[in-house]
Amino acid sequence: MLKQIDYTYKDRVWCGKINEKYINKVVKLYGWVHRFRDMGGITFIDLRDRTGVVQVVLPKELKIEKLSLEDVLEVIGIVKERPAENVNPNIATGNFEVIAKEFKILSKSEPLPFMINDDYKDIRDLKIDESLRLRYRYLDLRRLQMFRNMFFRHKLIKYIRDFMDNEDFLEIETPLLAKPTPEGARDFLVPSRLQLGKFYALPQSPQLFKQILMVSGIDRYFQIAKCLRDEDLRADRQPEFTQVDIEMSFISKNDIFLLVENLLEFALNNLGIDINTPFEVIDYKYAIEHFNSDKPDLRYNYPIKKWNNSIKINLNDENFNINQTYYIFFKNLGLTRKELDKLNEFLKQNNLKFLYFISSNGEFKGSLVKFVDVNEVDSYLRKENDFANGDYIVFIISSKNYLNELVLIKNYLIDNKLLRPVKDFYFLWVDNFPLFKVEEEKVGDKIIRKISPEHHPFTNVLEEDKPKVYMIYKELQKDPKIIYDDNFVKEVLSIRSLAYDLVLNGVEVASGSIRITDIEFQKIIFNIIGITEEEANKKFGFLLEAFKYGVPPHGGIALGIDRIIALLLGYSSIREVIAFPKTQSGTCLLTKAPSEVDEIQLKELGIKLMEVN
Ligand code: AMO
Repeated sequence: MLKQIDYTYKDRVWCGKINEKYINKVVKLYGWVHRFRDMGGITFIDLRDRTGVVQVVLPKELKIEKLSLEDVLEVIGIVKERPAENVNPNIATGNFEVIAKEFKILSKSEPLPFMINDDYKDIRDLKIDESLRLRYRYLDLRRLQMFRNMFFRHKLIKYIRDFMDNEDFLEIETPLLAKPTPEGARDFLVPSRLQLGKFYALPQSPQLFKQILMVSGIDRYFQIAKCLRDEDLRADRQPEFTQVDIEMSFISKNDIFLLVENLLEFALNNLGIDINTPFEVIDYKYAIEHFNSDKPDLRYNYPIKKWNNSIKINLNDENFNINQTYYIFFKNLGLTRKELDKLNEFLKQNNLKFLYFISSNGEFKGSLVKFVDVNEVDSYLRKENDFANGDYIVFIISSKNYLNELVLIKNYLIDNKLLRPVKDFYFLWVDNFPLFKVEEEKVGDKIIRKISPEHHPFTNVLEEDKPKVYMIYKELQKDPKIIYDDNFVKEVLSIRSLAYDLVLNGVEVASGSIRITDIEFQKIIFNIIGITEEEANKKFGFLLEAFKYGVPPHGGIALGIDRIIALLLGYSSIREVIAFPKTQSGTCLLTKAPSEVDEIQLKELGIKLMEVN
């Protein structure tokens, strides 16, 4: 039998939990001084702990030392209902107050570097510099909204563990001191003291180990895994972040889709968030063609359309036929005059001069209006679209290079809340990603082309595209220079993989693939992406060797948990949902990491610092 934990402070009641049950009862409270005011000898204190705030009344006879904001208090008192005129409807405990009988300051606080009790509705509206918040993160985390973020994170991860356990997954910890993982970023290296001159790499993901675990017969693995990547940071990227990392044997892509849909539905429903499953699946190619993005935000489903006819345009009295015309049709946009003027201003400022927008009341605007036959354009648009009063069509003449500009206008409309989202959270699968990408790099005055994996080198190919892989392998064997042939590159890029992404509101929140288990085919892929046999053996030899001893077909996915939480809670930066995040330059402002180390420590590791430009 488990014993009741006899917390030293066992009679304690959480500040935010004071309710009618406690009226006329003695309670013991612990918390921080959120606010206080002296009213003719009687002191009113808003006492705060992680659950909320309650008003404590210190009668005159309780002699108090000088109070400061954020002092830590112990209060023993009686709960009373507040007189009607004193009720505070803004806090959960607003109907009650605690009349103190005993009172102790357990610890004093110095003057604060910033206020925690200022009247903000949302930390997104805080005027405090983020670097100050990060420097004093412990104070920042005292904000109830930050506590809510941490609580949400904790619960989400708990529900994920519950669900995965129920589906027979094993959580297995994989090493942090590891070898490089090929996820496309730089590695953080850790020097070995016991083997001077050698380095561990911190894992960019548990990719290699989770595949090894499939060879071990674990069958269903998951891990709430810390991943470390030395890459350029942005609002949705941290050098260390958390993945829900998953791998399964004897499955197909659809099993992974279903598993992730069920997992998210279970975890989010438990947190009071409704999501619709199954998620829509769209093809990578479709996404690019219709949204100019591999992570479209389908809350705003305004695809890019292609003009079927050619458009006649008259420039300096010369007629041209333009074949490549794209446009976006905004149904029911209904802009006011003022909004229209602002949009025009935006178009001008951004020099989007090839654009028109046309309203059904016959208004044509834009820098090229004078060059086209507006009647022809108008009748085409009416024929092709369900065009009614108040609809707008933005279109652009000529090449695909301008698709970004179309998207820019869409984003302007979204940012200015001129388009309405169809739902709060739009999950979407994008599948059939290309297997390869072709990158160009300038070396001296030469441009070098290189084939690399779009996902990672262990991603399998769509069965019907496999012959193309053999074909490009052979071609490259014959003549490596064929990479500079644009038709060859087109062929390379057309090969589809068994990789997929999960997108939430236009952000990539998960990524995975079915893996290669055929050693010979894996070697061909290494060869195509320019990894020599020697290099492959050095880096991934252990995986290839393991595959010789009976490897099950397998695949998996990793969910970026920081991004998912940030999006669900409505933040644009993942730093708001990470307790101790780093800045853009990778600094922890609280601890000042990274920092210099002692000469002795360096010496032990055989490291000598030198200037790098
Ligand atoms: P990938 O590299 O796409 O795949 O990562 C999976 C997901 O992790 C999140 N993510 C990040 N989040 C915050 N900061 C970062 N720096 C960062 N980098 C990535 C993203 C991304 O979708 N091993 C493969 C998965 C697999 O194949 O199973 C992998 O790591 O949300």
